[in-house]
Amino acid sequence: TLLDVVVNNDLNIEGFGACEGTVTCSTCHVILKPEDFERLPEEASDEERDMLELAYSLTETSRLGCQIT
Ligand code: FES
Repeated sequence: TLLDVVVNNDLNIEGFGACEGTVTCSTCHVILKPEDFERLPEEASDEERDMLELAYSLTETSRLGCQIT
């Protein structure tokens, strides 16, 4: 996942991925370019959508980084 990329590369993004991918926070919220959003292999699950609704500045191309593979 995108969260794995952040963790495995020791990227310093404060607070990113607080729940470690258990879909119980929205700190891994990312806003993708439309062309990148369209290229994702899977749509957001109901669980992800529910959590995204709590994300700050939600957009049409928002996803949770821990759910993007
Ligand atoms: Fe918490 Fe993605 S890390 S929802």
